[in-house]
Amino acid sequence: MKKRPTFFIKTFGCQMNRDDSSEMGRLLRGLGLRPAESDADADLVHINTCCVRQKAEDKFFSFLGVQRIRKEKHGRPIIGVGGCIPEKEDLRAGRQFVDYVVGAKHPQVYMAELAALIQSEFPGLDVPESMGPEATASAYQTVIRGCTNFCAYCVVPYVRGPEISEDPFKMRDEIAAKVEAGAREITLLGQNVLAYGYDLKPRRTLLDVIELIHDLPQLRRIRFVTSHPAWVKEEFVAGIAGMEKVCEHFHVPFQSGDDDVLERMHRGYTAAEYMEMIDMIREYYPGAGITADAIVGFPGETRANFDNTLKLIDRVRVDNIYSFKYSPRPLSESRDHDDVPDAEKKKRLAELNELEDGISRGINESLIGTDVEVMIESRSNSGGGRYYGRTRTSKLTDLACTRELRAGDTVTVRVTGATPHGIQGEVAGA
Ligand code: 5AD
Ligand code: SF4
Repeated sequence: MKKRPTFFIKTFGCQMNRDDSSEMGRLLRGLGLRPAESDADADLVHINTCCVRQKAEDKFFSFLGVQRIRKEKHGRPIIGVGGCIPEKEDLRAGRQFVDYVVGAKHPQVYMAELAALIQSEFPGLDVPESMGPEATASAYQTVIRGCTNFCAYCVVPYVRGPEISEDPFKMRDEIAAKVEAGAREITLLGQNVLAYGYDLKPRRTLLDVIELIHDLPQLRRIRFVTSHPAWVKEEFVAGIAGMEKVCEHFHVPFQSGDDDVLERMHRGYTAAEYMEMIDMIREYYPGAGITADAIVGFPGETRANFDNTLKLIDRVRVDNIYSFKYSPRPLSESRDHDDVPDAEKKKRLAELNELEDGISRGINESLIGTDVEVMIESRSNSGGGRYYGRTRTSKLTDLACTRELRAGDTVTVRVTGATPHGIQGEVAGA
């Protein structure tokens, strides 16, 4: 029998790209390829790209360079590029070594072309009978693509285009299939997941989707990211509060704590409104996990502006902040502005992280001695009866258990230690 050609998928950027990558993996397996251990021996390398910050783009181009060199030497791999970068530039112009591109807006549109390419590169491949989704305990579901918030720093609305929501009933079937294949946790994804359904007729909401999937018997947890602060309404929070599988975790990026900067970013809320919204969530869910994103060094950000960000962080005390130095992006409104020197951005980033580390550590330490529900994700690198998992509030948990555990199992963990980045504990009575 002929050996099956292999593929490797490299993913940069957000969870939506990861979801697209697993869909691409399913498609390639369906076409008769099998996964390779690494890019170094794959016959086809598919790269899912991100351009939200310059760094992500740089990493992609350097990875692409490595593939190009291998191709020039050995004639392989076939190189394909998906995700956001092909939506903003013609990647194949001057790069004949790129065999195909798949856009982020409508990835399905390119699939027939890809199938034809694979059939001509690897003639005579027999195709497996049916290809269900892969079994991972924690699975993603993209519910809405695109964004029209046009935050001044952001390239996403230009590369991903306006919101397109998926049909709720089609998604219910897809999610049911993922659960059937072993998923126990589903994360509903969107650039602004709370905008779900406004473009549909009849109009739907994210709550409708959650209601449609909530009673799938084997499904234990439902998550949703990312929530734009201006879109977090009490109706939604009250709605999910009655549904036990919905995890009490909100990822709500504030970006800045300064009203003037927020206005210039076009974020649509003030620091006080952000604070009120978080207080509202905490009324429904005391102890809710809250995470956020922040940008330092947005054009024109003064030291006084930045101090307001520190002030907000100190008041709102969220579990974790993903913080970034402002990176000017093509197409975005502020593309030509970048006036905070890099050394100053670095300094602000370090200050922000130091403040937040203390807060995160304090929150995590306050859990020591309590019991939390953890879903197992994987065996710990250190082996020896240790596992990684997540609490409902999305805290990374490093735990010991004398029993053999599998991904997707839920256990009660007594918390024994804490760092800014997570908690440690052991399974009680094991
Ligand atoms: N520069 C720095 N950070 C950015 N983000 C988005 N665009 C930029 C940019 N141009 C950050 C925001 C967003 C996260 C996904 O990436 O904080 O929430
Ligand atoms: Fe970008 Fe703003 Fe849309 Fe988020 S809400 S994807 S930051 S434009």
